[in-house]
Amino acid sequence: MTDGMTDGPAGATPRGAGTPEAARERAVRALATARERTALLTSCVEDHELTAQHSPLMSPLVWDLAHVGNQEEQWLLRAVGGREALRPEIDGLYDAFEHPRAERPSLPLLSPDEARRYAAEVRGRVLDLLEAASLDESSPLTDAAFAYGMVAQHEQQHDETMLITHQLRRGPAVLTAPDPDPAPAHRGPVEVLVPGGPFVMGTSDEPWALDNERPAHVVEVAPFFLDTAPVTNAAFLAFMEDGGYDRPRWWRPEGFALLRSQGVRAPSFWRREGGQWLRRRFGRTEPVPPDEPVMHVSWYEADAYARWAGRRLPTEAEWEKAARYDPATGRSRRYPWGDEDPSGERANLGQRHLRPAPAGSFPAGRSPLGVGQLIGDVWEWTASDFLPYPGFSAFPYREYSEVFFGPEYKVLRGGSFAVDPVACRGTFRNWDYPVRRQIFSGFRTARSAVAERPAPGDGVPPGGPFGEGAH
Ligand code: AVJ
Ligand code: FE
Repeated sequence: MTDGMTDGPAGATPRGAGTPEAARERAVRALATARERTALLTSCVEDHELTAQHSPLMSPLVWDLAHVGNQEEQWLLRAVGGREALRPEIDGLYDAFEHPRAERPSLPLLSPDEARRYAAEVRGRVLDLLEAASLDESSPLTDAAFAYGMVAQHEQQHDETMLITHQLRRGPAVLTAPDPDPAPAHRGPVEVLVPGGPFVMGTSDEPWALDNERPAHVVEVAPFFLDTAPVTNAAFLAFMEDGGYDRPRWWRPEGFALLRSQGVRAPSFWRREGGQWLRRRFGRTEPVPPDEPVMHVSWYEADAYARWAGRRLPTEAEWEKAARYDPATGRSRRYPWGDEDPSGERANLGQRHLRPAPAGSFPAGRSPLGVGQLIGDVWEWTASDFLPYPGFSAFPYREYSEVFFGPEYKVLRGGSFAVDPVACRGTFRNWDYPVRRQIFSGFRTARSAVAERPAPGDGVPPGGPFGEGAH
């Protein structure tokens, strides 16, 4: 790594590292928050709804429940604590690589009560282990409570997965948002210029950052314009009304063919009735809200919309520069607003609202350049494939990220309303197949500030119209 390169505050100890006691408290809190949400998502329906498969894309909810406990057992009780397996015979059932989701309902899974008891028993032992753990640099796995933070993030990721299952489930509403809908605010300019030049991407000092976010490294980004908010339903409707879904010219050929074959003509969960677009959300139907970020679109739809709009999806590096780069100091921050943890004023996270907030909301969460809603609301598709950063090394296991690297997955950034703050930050990377649309996915668009491929002799000097050294 470059001498002195850090994405942390100059001269400070690694951010958030703090004392083992602070790490322990943070871990206890993160584990408890995750389990509360898991309990809520698996107690709001009857047992037969937990064991049913609501979509071939998703596991039965009872699988997620026991899988969360099983991973916690493997990573904390066994790998960290050196304990024997509580129930070695179930490991295979809850191994995501052994059984694809569509297969899971036919497995001899633990019943809902058995799954709850198992997860609770694991948790009780984990809390005992955590209480006595030293959580210092003597072990990379538990330094700053990393493995505990990783397990809390894993459970929160499954809590988002389970919320997606609830969205796909037919039947009346069982979930209500704990908080009232967020108030929209004035949006300001529609796009801003993100200056070109190097910035530090990824992190080497965020204690609970996962392996794929590491290490911090310098990336050169050409100047570009970026939307200040995610693309709204109203904007996406304009694309639809302009025949967007019928014109191959806007689409990647494979995406056009695929969505055609599936009869896709609108975002998932939309339906046209009596001359207006309605959408189903967690068992309730409502008119499509024009100012809300469009959601449940595939990468192909996002990419086609951007082309129709004369723009493109931002690359992952562009997205992260917009979200973290502080032009005043040149430093990369943890979040668009600074280094402080998310709050309800800054971002829509944690399943508090059960919907994205209208474009222009959360002015307190904007970046110094004025880009809003980068964190929370909807996951944002980027143009980039899911690839390792230079210097990547798998930690603590290959199956978290490394086995997924490659061109078949696209990166999503920023988190959705369904993600807990513990599993969301400026460096966090999510990935999925470009055809997926059941996830809480939206996007924003970008355009280059300099001609990307100047044609020979068109008068643009090398380095773009601003010439060399403009930044
Ligand atoms: C990071 C959301 C792509 O759901 O496959 C859950 C998270 N990893 N269990 C996924 C995850 C292992 C992962 N994503
Ligand atoms: Fe998992």
